[in-house]
Amino acid sequence: MRIPLIAGNWKMNLDCVQGTELVKKIHEELGDTDVEVAVCCPAPLLCCMANELKDTPIRLGAQNMHWEDAGAFTGEVSAAMLKEAGVHYVILGHSERRQLFGETDEMINKKTKKALEKQLVPIVCIGETLEERETDKTFEVLTQQLKKDLDGLTEEAVAELVIAYEPVWAIGTGRTATPEQANEAVGFIRSQLEQAYGDDISEKIRILYGGSVKADNATEIMNCEEIDGALVGGASLKAEEFLGIIHF
Ligand code: G3P
Repeated sequence: MRIPLIAGNWKMNLDCVQGTELVKKIHEELGDTDVEVAVCCPAPLLCCMANELKDTPIRLGAQNMHWEDAGAFTGEVSAAMLKEAGVHYVILGHSERRQLFGETDEMINKKTKKALEKQLVPIVCIGETLEERETDKTFEVLTQQLKKDLDGLTEEAVAELVIAYEPVWAIGTGRTATPEQANEAVGFIRSQLEQAYGDDISEKIRILYGGSVKADNATEIMNCEEIDGALVGGASLKAEEFLGIIHF
């Protein structure tokens, strides 16, 4: 049985006061749920959010990191810095980092290995563009991303990961993948993991869906057999909306 994970990706939004108010409301209304909840906030907010979350079941996540331990990498943060700040999850390979900041599968692979080395849990994002979907390249793209992003990882390491299937055409667009599309893609990802690492691993690893998840579509998405949770952008910035997803 895989424990569902609902992770909010705040992207470049909120300050410490707004973030604190948001997580207070989420924690107050969380109730008894077997759903694991995480909030992935901008790096400058990590320490204040860690303090706010320390007596709650809500996990803290980061949105990126560098693969080096230290050095002349202006603007970057290391895995050790995230660990020291109380971070549990780290989003890696988000399509915005791939598209806007030129992040490659090779970089994501190095980041994933370093995150695992420092006992962080990577949430590795993969997904196709609209053009790739419309030209029937979705499965080819997902196969290549998985192969390159997870290259050189042991079965034990892969078992520790979370994968997020985020079709680029559904991110921030309000155009959510249909449950059938999402379940088919996540099921394909799981089949690829089974081929590469065996069914023990493929059945253990959690695979999330991300892309315009809202309170009003969370139930149908989360009821998909293959889907273990959601990586939520815009809807994670509003307590009521995010709680509606958590309580799907
Ligand atoms: O990482 C999650 C994010 O890319 C999805 O964004 O706003 O479509 O939920 P949104």
